[in-house]
Amino acid sequence: MTEVIDGETVAADVRSDVADRVETLADAGVTPGLATVLMSDDPASETYVSMKQRDCEEVGIEGIHVDVDADAPAGELFETIDDLNAREDVHGILVQLPVPDHVGKREVLRRIDPEKDVDGFHPENVGRLVAGDARYKPCTPHGVQKLLAAYDVETEGADAVVVGRSDIVGKPMANLLIQKAPQGNATVTVCHSRTEDLEGKLAGADIVVAAAGIPEFVDGSMLKAGATVIDVGINRVETDTEKGYELVGDVDYESAREVAGAITPVPGGVGPMTRAMLLYNTVKAAGRQHD
Ligand code: GUN
Repeated sequence: MTEVIDGETVAADVRSDVADRVETLADAGVTPGLATVLMSDDPASETYVSMKQRDCEEVGIEGIHVDVDADAPAGELFETIDDLNAREDVHGILVQLPVPDHVGKREVLRRIDPEKDVDGFHPENVGRLVAGDARYKPCTPHGVQKLLAAYDVETEGADAVVVGRSDIVGKPMANLLIQKAPQGNATVTVCHSRTEDLEGKLAGADIVVAAAGIPEFVDGSMLKAGATVIDVGINRVETDTEKGYELVGDVDYESAREVAGAITPVPGGVGPMTRAMLLYNTVKAAGRQHD
């Protein structure tokens, strides 16, 4: 029987742990604060940011939101970041990506105080992660690690294939899976758009993390029987339903479920974990800044 990996349940456990930590910090007179910054008119980005704010409220984290006009000069975003860096009540800062083309993404990420970089995207934090000394693990790959742990998926010695090489998911995921740490010690292959023999790589994979951003890119015929399949994709695909679109993953769920040993659904798999790990990083940031 294929096990369906329930991200909602595991995320609820993480949120409960976070809420306990918020109480402990409250005893020390500290309320963790997370600032989200949105410089975009994209409805999906607006939705993601408002969900993050709602999550904060649920666990007792103070949510602060700043909108920057998508047409504003880059300097306005940098000033916003500088102000948030200086605020003692703000422990975590997240600038929702993507930012407009006229704003340099790398400059934005470098501008955030690395102690407040709860995404883990500042080059100092990327370096620390690669060195095996992470300050904040990026939320999505960290959430995937938690799911693997919760479902007792053996990574030690496993052949893992990460499909996608993004800074947000693919690269940090591969780094975490190779580390000498729990949910690590895997042998990792990273595939991407120029990979010549994706099918050949996937055929031997005990663990597949699909994060290419391409709807239903991986299907059951490509998988090894019994593989653990983690679907990071959240793709809006147009439909002629009332809503006008549906969300599908990077994995063709129906065919993959026939072959996989365990699989995450979309929605309800990795998505809730990404959100929960942001809360986790925010309380960690608050604790570090008040130690
Ligand atoms: N856009 C899509 N995913 C993410 C994320 O994890 N962090 C930020 N800041 N922006 C994103």
